[in-house]
Amino acid sequence: MLKDGTKLTVRVGEDRDADQLIENANHFIEHGEGQVLVPGELKLTHEDEIKWIRNHRDKPTNLLLVAEVEGKLVGHIDFYGASRKRLLHTGHFGLGIREEYRSRGVGKALLSKLISWAKGNGVIEKINLQVIANNARGIALYESLGFLESGRKRREIKLEDGSYVDDVSMELILK
Ligand SMILES: CC(C)(COP(=O)(O)OP(=O)(O)OC[C@H]1O[C@@H](n2cnc3c(N)ncnc32)[C@H](O)[C@@H]1OP(=O)(O)O)[C@@H](O)C(=O)NCCC(=O)NCCS
Repeated sequence: MLKDGTKLTVRVGEDRDADQLIENANHFIEHGEGQVLVPGELKLTHEDEIKWIRNHRDKPTNLLLVAEVEGKLVGHIDFYGASRKRLLHTGHFGLGIREEYRSRGVGKALLSKLISWAKGNGVIEKINLQVIANNARGIALYESLGFLESGRKRREIKLEDGSYVDDVSMELILK
């Protein structure tokens, strides 16, 4: 249940989610707080998306979770475990919630599920993420679940008005 009593379902992403995930990816760019990409920059095909979904399914240190409300896919979290031998215990994720469902606890539900999965995975010991410094809601969510800032690239992103934003790295050490 979300804070307002709405029923939320969290499940593993499947091939049948491809088109809705593409639609959501474009929606996140259009409703762009926290995004580096601008509209028109991402061109995903159905086949790309199927490959992306299967990449998550086929490796035990990857995971794609989707969030559904009343049959509508309202957000997702995608975790990639690193491939290099000395980095195998680490991974990073991306997270996005449709605008009309933000600040209702969906992001927290997805990230909490990911953290419990990672703790039980047997390989993952550390979760990394990148977030744009002006994404106050994202940073509040990550801090509320124990992530700490681990570094920042200053002036990494240059916005259309000429102003700069830092790219912040955060990490959660599980053990
Ligand atoms: C960032 C994002 C994933 C968070 O998911 P969400 O479902 O909106 O987040 P939740 O409702 O679970 O939690 C947000 C937290 O931030 C807090 N919050 C909300 N608005 C805030 C604001 N403007 N400033 C600071 N904190 C804020 C909420 O109170 C909540 O904290 P709490 O659970 O301790 O009360 C989502 O808003 C989103 O998709 N944004 C656009 C894309 C994006 O930024 N993706 C992440 C890139 S790193």
